[in-house]
Amino acid sequence: MNFKVNIIGLGIMGKNVARALSRNDMVTVTAAADFKDENLEEGKTEFGLEKTYKDYKKMVDAEKPDAVFIATPDWAHYEPVMYCLDAGIHTHVEKPLTTDEKEAAGIVRKVKETGLKFQVSYNHRWLAPYNATWNMIREGKIGNCIMGYARKNNPINVPTVMLPWAKQSSPMWFLSGHDIDLMTWWFDDDPVEVKGFGIKRVLKEKYGWDTYDAMQGLVKFSKGGFATFESTWIYPECHPAMPDSFMEVVGEHGHIHLDRKTEAIEMSGSDGFKWPRSLLNYKVFDKWVGAFPSCINSFIDAIAEDWEPYVTAYDGWRSTAVLDAIHRSADTGDTVTVSAPPV
Ligand SMILES: NC(=O)c1ccc[n+]([C@@H]2O[C@H](COP(=O)([O-])OP(=O)(O)OC[C@H]3O[C@@H](n4cnc5c(N)ncnc54)[C@H](O)[C@@H]3O)[C@@H](O)[C@H]2O)c1
Repeated sequence: MNFKVNIIGLGIMGKNVARALSRNDMVTVTAAADFKDENLEEGKTEFGLEKTYKDYKKMVDAEKPDAVFIATPDWAHYEPVMYCLDAGIHTHVEKPLTTDEKEAAGIVRKVKETGLKFQVSYNHRWLAPYNATWNMIREGKIGNCIMGYARKNNPINVPTVMLPWAKQSSPMWFLSGHDIDLMTWWFDDDPVEVKGFGIKRVLKEKYGWDTYDAMQGLVKFSKGGFATFESTWIYPECHPAMPDSFMEVVGEHGHIHLDRKTEAIEMSGSDGFKWPRSLLNYKVFDKWVGAFPSCINSFIDAIAEDWEPYVTAYDGWRSTAVLDAIHRSADTGDTVTVSAPPV
């Protein structure tokens, strides 16, 4: 068995997908599409891609891959997802599913209609402490979830240096999706009502960007539980965490805290004081390990062994519905009622 795989969007994450699949014997990554020549050149030299394309539609039509991995920017997921599903191709998409609740609902319906394998890259579910939290909750160790809190914050060089499209995004879209996915997974519940807050000051004054510096959202779930999510990306550049990440879930008779800020390593040296990252995507000897490659390769297992992937389109809808509602609420000042889940 060998699946022909293509990648749409060969930037930071698209290349990580190619690396994660590089030791998977069930897969050959044959082609990638991207607007940027330098990314396509790297695809040929680093990953030995046979073909590269500027237009993903031409690639999909010509290559007829078994599966695609989409890693375009947040707001550019919907069109390639729908195109690939319409072409009968198993599809994996980077988080968030889309940046619009209605589009997300449309994808849920399309996946159901086609019966294709589909997964959203909410890879934190493969990080052992978060996965253990899910198991402990399912085993009844803290009772039913009633309250949650999650914070994810980055230093300002992430939006201003690392992310070329930050001004079209926000700290919530970029940082909180994983937290919202984990919380809805742990609560196993749909969001019903959202109140969001945000402030546009520092990035606006310094760079003229019309995006939020910091955001907070309070989400009520259908069974009465609630959770707060917050994120900022204007910590000073000297902050050693990328990101500063903390989560809490409170049950009827217990609690769980998850502190990922230091990633279990502290160092100081020529680069200053740091908590270097290694838990999500790290090359151990000859192989990429961590939550990200586990998630990517799990999707291939789901196709090969014919089971439902661990992060479904419906799960992706839940996070997008919350994120979309927090932004609408922050923009207008209103409390937003979340649309009924797609059926
Ligand atoms: N799962 C995770 O943990 C995780 C982590 C970081 C980023 N992400 C997500 O991954 C996605 C990509 O982020 P990135 O950091 O790789 O961005 P990036 O800017 O490095 O790469 C995106 C690439 O997509 C290309 N592109 C845009 N539109 C295209 C189109 N229509 N056809 C072909 N190529 C197109 C761009 O030219 C660019 O090279 C985002 O949605 C981001 O939020 C996920």
